[in-house]
Amino acid sequence: MSQAIGRTPGQTHATGYDEATRQRLAADAAVVMARYPQPRSALLPLLHLVQSVDGYVSPRGIAFVARTLGLTNAEVSAVATFYTQFKRHPGGTYTVGVCITALCAVMGGDAIWEELVEHLGIDDDQTTADGAVTLERVECNAACDYAPVVMVNWEFFDNQTPATAVKLVDDLRAGRPVAPTRGADTVVTFRAASRVLAGFPDGRAGQGPAAGPATLAGLRVAHEHGWTAAAYDEAEEGK
Ligand code: FES
Repeated sequence: MSQAIGRTPGQTHATGYDEATRQRLAADAAVVMARYPQPRSALLPLLHLVQSVDGYVSPRGIAFVARTLGLTNAEVSAVATFYTQFKRHPGGTYTVGVCITALCAVMGGDAIWEELVEHLGIDDDQTTADGAVTLERVECNAACDYAPVVMVNWEFFDNQTPATAVKLVDDLRAGRPVAPTRGADTVVTFRAASRVLAGFPDGRAGQGPAAGPATLAGLRVAHEHGWTAAAYDEAEEGK
């Protein structure tokens, strides 16, 4: 940690960022904060913004967010350490998350996890020596209809097997392009994805298919049988 907060000439005492980076962060933070009635409501996106610069929620990032939002470092840290999307140390270019929640686990997620641990020689929340891949166990990604699921920087790779997951991480490490099953057909770096989550779209959100046949199976059956949802009764609301 001391390495992360160490300052070099030109960095400010206020946050540990060099002046150009601090100004860029401040400008971006102002854009985000303007979207909310209360500045502190911008806390989560600003933590993503910090990750887009540092690759994790760094001590200097916590200090920057706290000063920007009028919070204490402890308040910002309390939130940053609650959500698993916020990283507490630097990771790789690609965070590969294997869903190990019940449905994915029994459909092959556990086998994928064991294969990747063996293949990469790292365990949960560890990064390959080349800095390319951070491996982590993740909880349900709301993609159970495509179990078992692997995510790379929050992009879906559905219906995986140990073999396809190994090829996926090998391609990432070799710099070969990989294509998510749904959404955009490319994967950006963890820092680039963090900037999108901070509220700065990269134009990829609407690309590619979203809901696939498995997701829409219930709707298809309903259409085939002429089923419709019960009418919404506003008078019942609030009773
Ligand atoms: S259990 Fe894996 S996506 Fe839901």
